[in-house]
Amino acid sequence: MSKWWQIGIVYQIYPRSFQDSNGDGVGDLPGIEQRLDYLRDLGVDAIWISPIYPSPMADFGYDVSDYCDIHPLFGSMADMDRLIAAAHDHNLKLILDFVPNHTSTEHPWFLESRSSRSNPKRDWYIWRDPAPDGGPPNNWLSRFGGPAWTLDAQTGQYYLHSFLPEQPDVNWRNPELRAAMLNVLRFWFDKGVDGFRVDVSYRTMKDAQFRDNPPNPNWKPGMDPAKQVIETYTRNTPDIEHFNRWLREVSDEYDDRVLIGEINLPPHELVAHYGRSRNGLHLPFNFNLIFTPWEATAVRNLIETYETALPEGAWPNWVLGNHDQHRIASRVGADQARVAMMLLLTLRGTPTLYYGDELGMLDGDIPPDLVQDPWEKNVPGLGLGRDPERTPMPWTAVPHADFCPPTVTPWLPLNADSVTVNVASQRSDPGSMWVFTEKLIQLRRETAALHLGSYQSLPAPDGVLAYQRRHGFQTRWIVLNMTGDPKMWQLPEDGGATAVLLTTESTQPTFTGNTLPLRPNEGVVLAV
Ligand code: GLC
Repeated sequence: MSKWWQIGIVYQIYPRSFQDSNGDGVGDLPGIEQRLDYLRDLGVDAIWISPIYPSPMADFGYDVSDYCDIHPLFGSMADMDRLIAAAHDHNLKLILDFVPNHTSTEHPWFLESRSSRSNPKRDWYIWRDPAPDGGPPNNWLSRFGGPAWTLDAQTGQYYLHSFLPEQPDVNWRNPELRAAMLNVLRFWFDKGVDGFRVDVSYRTMKDAQFRDNPPNPNWKPGMDPAKQVIETYTRNTPDIEHFNRWLREVSDEYDDRVLIGEINLPPHELVAHYGRSRNGLHLPFNFNLIFTPWEATAVRNLIETYETALPEGAWPNWVLGNHDQHRIASRVGADQARVAMMLLLTLRGTPTLYYGDELGMLDGDIPPDLVQDPWEKNVPGLGLGRDPERTPMPWTAVPHADFCPPTVTPWLPLNADSVTVNVASQRSDPGSMWVFTEKLIQLRRETAALHLGSYQSLPAPDGVLAYQRRHGFQTRWIVLNMTGDPKMWQLPEDGGATAVLLTTESTQPTFTGNTLPLRPNEGVVLAV
C-alpha cells in the first residue's frame, strides 16, 4: 500500500506571506485556516508550513527560541490546534518545520549554556577555545557571511553558528540535548502533526575533530563568500547517519508520519540519507532540478542519474522552488513555467509545490530600503537575498490583493503585477496558469501511471524531453518542448496516442502519421 506522502502532493506555505487575518501585514495561522478550502480546490494533499515558533526573527523564524509554542505574530497554540483539526477535516496532512541544527541565542538553553563554562547545558552547544592567536578555532565559515564562530567575551570561548551569530549550532553528540530535541518531535506528533521538514538536516553532525575545511580552488571574488571552502567537515559527515536514525526512531513510534530532510547534495550523496536499510529519512529533498541547467539533455541526465542512484525501496521526490530559491517562473522564464509545472507533476515521486507557483508568480522587485532578508543585508548585491521569492500571495485584484487590508503595509510589498496575477482573476480564466495547474494536479491524482508508475526516458530530438510513465496496462507519454522553437516528436510505437493535457491549448494536436508537432514551449501528456 502506498503512503499518503508517496502519492500525494506537498504544498509549501511561507506563513508570513500567505494570508494575514489580523491586519498587521504579516500572514498567520488563522489566515492559513481561512484558505484551506482554496488548497483543497487546488487539489494538494499536504501543507508544509515554514517555522511559526517564538523567535526574535533574525532569520524569520529559523532562529527558534521555543520549539513548543507559537509566535504571537502567527497566533496562539489554540489557533494551531484548530488548524491541525481543520486541515484534517479538509483531508490535508500538516507538516511542520523542525529546526534541529541551531536555536536562537535567545533560547533558554543557549542563555544557560553561555552563562558559564560549568553550566550543565554548556555542552548543549558547540564551544571551543580560541586558536593560539586568539582568533576563531578553525576556518569554518557562516553560510550568511563571515566566520562561523563568535567569541563570547564573558566565558572566553567561541560558539559555532553555521548561519547567523544569532543562530548558535546545538551539539547533537550530547545525549541530553538530543533527548530534549527528540521530545520536541513527540510534542508535535502527539498533537496530530503528520510530519516534519527537517531544516538543514545534513549539517547537524560536524566533524568531531573540528578539522579545517579545504580551500575551494574554483572560488573567485564575486561568488558567494561561504563557498571559499569546500564543506568537507561541516556538512554530510559520516555521522549524519546516526542523526537520521534518531529522528526516524521517533517518527516510527507513531503511525504514518513523514520526515523530509533539507539536503543540498547531488543524487549519489543524497540517496544515502534514506538509510542503509531505508531506516533514515523518508524523503531526503531532491533539489537537483533547481541546480541543473534548464535544458532537455541536462534534465534527462539528471532524472536518469537520480533514478539509477535510488536504492531499492527508496521513494523519489522533486522540488522546483522554495523560500530560499528564486521563483521558477523567473528562473526559466514565464514561457517555460507551464512546462516546468508539467515536469514537476509528471515525474516519478512526491512533488513539492511552492505557494504562488500555481499562479506562475515571478520574483518580486524589492527596493533596497525594503530589504528584509539578513543574507542580503550581510552579503548585498550578489543576488543571494531571498525576499523576492517570499512576497505575499495575491488573492484578488484589490490593493494588497486581499493578503492584508489595503490600509496596512505588508511586511514585503506585493508583486507589481498582482492586479492581474492573482487567484481570483486566474480562477475565472480558463486559459490561466492556475487552471492549468489544477487540471494537472487532478490528472496526476486520477492517473495511477502518473502517481505510482515506473519512469523510462524516451528518444527525443534536441531541446525536447520525453518520458514514459507506466503502471500495469496504463501508459502515459510526457513530451516537453523546453525551447522557444517548434519541434517534431516521433511516437516511439505505432498505434497512436491521445493528448490528455497540453500546456498551450486544450485542442488535440494534429499528428502527421506518427509525428507529433510541438509548438514553442509546449508540453503534452499523451495517453497511449
Ligand atoms: C534553511 C532554511 C533557510 C534558513 C536556513 C537556516 O536553509 O530553508 O531559510 O535561513 O536553513 O536555518
